[in-house]
Order: sequence, then C-alpha cells, then structure tokens
Amino acid sequence: MTTPATRLLIHGASGRMGHTLLRLCRDEPAPGCTVVAAVSRRVAQRVVDGVPQFSAHEIAGVPPFDVAIDFSLPAGLETVATLCAARSAGLVSGTTGLDDAQRQSLEAASRRVPVIWAANFSIGAAVLADLVARAAPALHGWDCDIVEQHHVHKRDAPSGTALSLGKAAESGGAIPRHASLRAGDIVGEHTVQFATAGERIELIHRATSRDVFARGAIAAASRLHGRAPGHYALRDLLFDPA
Ligand SMILES: NC(=O)c1ccc[n+]([C@@H]2O[C@H](COP(=O)([O-])OP(=O)(O)OC[C@H]3O[C@@H](n4cnc5c(N)ncnc54)[C@H](OP(=O)(O)O)[C@@H]3O)[C@@H](O)[C@H]2O)c1
Repeated sequence: MTTPATRLLIHGASGRMGHTLLRLCRDEPAPGCTVVAAVSRRVAQRVVDGVPQFSAHEIAGVPPFDVAIDFSLPAGLETVATLCAARSAGLVSGTTGLDDAQRQSLEAASRRVPVIWAANFSIGAAVLADLVARAAPALHGWDCDIVEQHHVHKRDAPSGTALSLGKAAESGGAIPRHASLRAGDIVGEHTVQFATAGERIELIHRATSRDVFARGAIAAASRLHGRAPGHYALRDLLFDPA
C-alpha cells in the first residue's frame, strides 16, 4: 500500500521553528510530503526555495493543502485553525502560550478536521512526561519542582512543556511548583525534581536542536493526513505503527 502524498502548509514560516521545518522539508524530505505554501505575519520575498510565501492577511489565497503545521504565536492560531476547518485540512500545532479562546478554536476545528496540538513534539519529552506520571504516585508527599530554561526570545513562561509535565505530575498526585529561566540561546531544557528529606530524583530532558521538534511535527503531519476529525495525542500518532 502506498502512503498518500501530503501537501503541507507551514504557518509561522519566518520564525525559528518555521525556518527549521522548511530546511528539513528541503534537505531531508519525508516520503510523500511536499511544502506547497509558507505563511508568516509579513513576507519579504514571494518565493523561497520554490515555496510560495504568503503574509497572514493573504492566507485565504493559499493553494490546496492537506495539513498545516503551525509554529507561530497565539494571535495567529485562530486564523489557521479556521482555514484548516474550511479547507478540510488537518492541523498540527506546536504554538504555546494559548489562552482559553485560542484553545477553543482548536477544539472547534477538531470537530471538523483532524487536529493535534502538543507543547513539545520531541519523542524524549513525551517519554519524560510518561516517566513523571509513573514516578509521582510512588513518591507521595515528596516536593515536586519543574524548572525550565529557554532562550531569551521565548515569550511564554512557564513553557507549554513545563505545564504539560505539571499535568503529568498532578495525574499521579503530586503538587508541582514551577520556575523558569530565560538565558542565551538555550533551545529547551526541562528538569522535574522530586525531593524529600535525605534524597532527591531529577528527571531531565535537554533539547539541543530544534530539529527534534520539527521532525516530530512533520511525522505527526504525515500520520494525521486522512484521519477522521478529532483531537489526537502525539503518542497515538508517533507510537502507532499504522
Ligand atoms: N511544541 C513544540 O515542540 C515547540 C518547539 C519550539 C517552539 N514552540 C513554540 O512555537 C512557537 C513559535 O516559536 P519560534 O521560536 O519559531 O517563534 P518565532 O521565531 O518568534 O516565530 C514566530 C512566527 O510566527 C509568525 N507570526 C507571528 N504572529 C503571527 C500571526 N498573527 N499570523 C501568522 N503568523 C504569525 C511570525 O511571523 P513574522 O516573522 O512575520 O512576525 C514568525 O514566522 C512558540 O509558541 C514556541 O513556544 C513549540
């Protein structure tokens, strides 16, 4: 059986993650995935590496696509979610710092098209959340602290990943506290520490390259294509052999 071709729209294309996604799609294309359009708030060039560029206010004019990959900022999310619903296209979003209304726009889209939102598209961070959920019930009454570090340009704090790790800890009965550091060009580091009198456990995930997030998002996009409407979890897509 051949995998259907997946036409991708990259939303937030001029940003750090957008550049990483476009470079990976150009230099190590996933089988069957082609970028057909790139959207940023503003555009400087009409075509880059053969990919047509659109500004946010031109988004209605993008060519047909199967899945949008969105790493923009919260203000841009509703527009791309509405576009995906209108075009019957899937949505992969890694944009963090969403408010309730922006989360609701994802939920609304997921009633019409397949949607995945994840605070962290790396496999290592997904495994870390699983480890935290399993450790917390065994460490009842221990202090639980989540410390995250990112580059100085990151706007939201605590990071979306730290909040997801906090939910994993809470699911096991822990009461997590959060701390955030913004320094230099740190791609992303998350430490979950469980401590009690006389002993301490630290679980750490360090991302040293944005490529890990981009590869996870591209893999999720190709696996989301053709699915029924709904809100999918990263582990269901990445760890599903189908
Ligand atoms: N889930 C994960 O695995 C993961 C990993 C890394 C980062 N992130 C998140 O991904 C997001 C992007 O990160 P980044 O470091 O790439 O940010 P960035 O460098 O600031 O890039 C943001 C991009 O979004 C565009 N944009 C901003 N407002 C927009 C709007 N209203 N409509 C359309 N496009 C808009 C910007 O366009 P202009 O340049 O024209 O302004 C730019 O292309 C952040 O929320 C970050 O926390 C998630």
